[in-house]
Amino acid sequence: MTTRTFVIGHPIAHSRSPLIHGTWLKAYGIDGSYEAIDVEPAALPALFAQLRRGEFAGGNVTIPLKESVFGLCDTVDPLATTIGAVNTLVAKGDKVHGFNTDFMGFLGNLDQQATGWSDGLDEAIVLGAGGASRAILVALRERGVKKINLLNRTAEKAAALAKTFGDPVHAAPWDAFADLAPYAGLVVNTTSVGMHGSQFTDLALSRLPKTALVTDLVYVPLETPLLAEARLLGLRTVDGLGMLLHQAIPGFEAWFGVRPEVSPALRAAVEATL
Ligand code: ATR
Repeated sequence: MTTRTFVIGHPIAHSRSPLIHGTWLKAYGIDGSYEAIDVEPAALPALFAQLRRGEFAGGNVTIPLKESVFGLCDTVDPLATTIGAVNTLVAKGDKVHGFNTDFMGFLGNLDQQATGWSDGLDEAIVLGAGGASRAILVALRERGVKKINLLNRTAEKAAALAKTFGDPVHAAPWDAFADLAPYAGLVVNTTSVGMHGSQFTDLALSRLPKTALVTDLVYVPLETPLLAEARLLGLRTVDGLGMLLHQAIPGFEAWFGVRPEVSPALRAAVEATL
């Protein structure tokens, strides 16, 4: 019997997930499907009923449903609770289990593109204190980064998030970047800056150590102005597309029983659609 899975969101047409999972299904010769389904929040209970009846093995969840699925899951993984969002559902028997794979996507991408990046990494700077930031804070904490400086345009939001996480996350004012940069081995942009031609105007990247790594969650464009500037300064850079690809791995493995690989061919196929 064909194993059916989905990505739900509203709207959903733009999602690259069907291409990613479709490529893997074909590559591994699996009798499965992965459908994009437009679901409004009010229609979620009906979808969960289908999951509990075994009509789907699970699926991914995207905007604006990542928070609303919380209360419908039978269990939610503790890290998804910390991140405050569920992006992966796995149905087992008549139960639905919720996970968040964004932090694993972030780690998997850096591990593949910048092997050894977290060895001896003491300090990092995270830009942005929104939803995406929480997954990055969890990831860096998991890797044992000793001091994570959280900078946000709206300082209160960084302070509130730092309070939620406690040590090693410390909120700092946006203009502290220049003073913190010389000690930072990693800079992560989790804000939307970089999309639609927007860019930071006040980040002193030149004050970072020459060994620092700069990475961006924005992947349209693939090379954001932040990454372009870092590259020109001779810093290591990793773009955000890999995170999208790597966050898909745990779901596919749970539904279809095969741990898929992020190959250059998969990356090229998705890149061609950007
Ligand atoms: P997401 O879930 O993608 O993180 P979000 O929760 O809306 O989206 O958060 C967006 C982040 O981008 C916030 O940290 C926001 O800063 P504010 O808290 O000050 O709004 C940040 N952001 C958006 N536009 C920005 C800009 N022009 N300059 C700096 N930060 C910006």
